[in-house]
Amino acid sequence: MTLLDWHHRRTDRVANYEFAASMRWAFRQACIGAGVCLAVDSPIAGTSFRTPEVTNVELGTPLRMTVRMLEGTVPAALARAGHLIAPHLGGVALRVADRGFGWAVVTVLTSDPLAGSLELPPSPRAGVLLGRDEGGENLEVDPVELPHLIVQGQTRSGKSTWLYALIVQLLRHLNVVVAGVDPSGITLRPFTGTAHARWQASGLADPHALEAVLVALVADMDARLAAMPLDRDILPISAEHPLVVTILDEYPALLRALDAADPKQGKRVRALVARLLAESHKVGHRMVIAAQRAEASIVGAAERAQCGGRLSFRVDSADSVKLLHSDAELLAGGHTSARPGIALCSWPGRPLTRIRGPYLGGYGAYAAAVTAATRGAA
Ligand SMILES: Nc1ncnc2c1ncn2[C@@H]1O[C@H](COP(=O)(O)OP(=O)(O)OP(=O)(O)O)[C@@H](O)[C@H]1O
Ligand SMILES: [Mg+2]
Repeated sequence: MTLLDWHHRRTDRVANYEFAASMRWAFRQACIGAGVCLAVDSPIAGTSFRTPEVTNVELGTPLRMTVRMLEGTVPAALARAGHLIAPHLGGVALRVADRGFGWAVVTVLTSDPLAGSLELPPSPRAGVLLGRDEGGENLEVDPVELPHLIVQGQTRSGKSTWLYALIVQLLRHLNVVVAGVDPSGITLRPFTGTAHARWQASGLADPHALEAVLVALVADMDARLAAMPLDRDILPISAEHPLVVTILDEYPALLRALDAADPKQGKRVRALVARLLAESHKVGHRMVIAAQRAEASIVGAAERAQCGGRLSFRVDSADSVKLLHSDAELLAGGHTSARPGIALCSWPGRPLTRIRGPYLGGYGAYAAAVTAATRGAA
């Protein structure tokens, strides 16, 4: 080794050491700024901050850090503040892997992990894929495990696309009936002439047909409640009692139309939906409510509380985000400019996550998939 080589290596090492130190420092400062810290007041030294501690920096692309969380905090706190911390480390997002016992491995991502599209796998799968999170993990559930769902988002934010993917995946399972009320008439149109259609109403021209569908669903629920075996508190899904997934697309438009035609009918429909939300889950019914904005006048607090799964695609303001995700403090602001197909997702047993919904293709692909899946049932 020449003296020059030795000198280069040494300066590289020094540069690397200094770069790692600057990353630790930037991480610490960003944690304080984002509130992932503990303020310690002392009479002499004033206020000082304790932050999660970086114990190792692995240089490279991507940059990785091993972090010990503060006592009493969990890596999820870091994940929630990821988009506030990442820019100060030269990235756009953090991927936080919880290694247990208060340790996390933090990867600094230089591009949005939710950019690009998530193709819906063509083959039948065990579960229903609802989206992929920033850590690259799929949110996938058995259809029977689905909670009631509420989905909000501005026009062109990706609600329908997400519903199409959900519906097509449900149809891959035996013993699933897709019911619903669809003011635009577009979402459920591919079901025309199938066995599902008797549980559906499309368009706003005939308000009585819309109400009749909900009355029939409630009657089915009551019959199932009556048929419940004495030794069970949940009715198992079977050919006789299929899983009934009711899609209420553009729910506010539906209520507005009913209220305008006959306020009493609007009231009756609200009551039917409230009963379905409150009582139908254990007998194999699932509700999926879609709206541009989940306003309190449309979906009351009681109804919202029944919906364990809540998704917000792009909405107009942080306040709209909070209608469905009261814990979205840090993520709410950035979400008003989310790209189509990206949603904030609250799900039973999971922390609030940003996900990308699956993409099946356009409306044509959806219509073709419904036709293919329901041909046997026609
Ligand atoms: N998950 C996704 N992946 C890729 N592109 C998407 C995704 N979701 C939506 N898009 C794109 O955004 C467009 C608008 O989405 P979509 O029609 O689902 O919006 P919407 O919320 O239903 O709007 P509206 O309220 O007007 O019905 C789609 O045509 C598609 O090009
Ligand atoms: Mg739509």
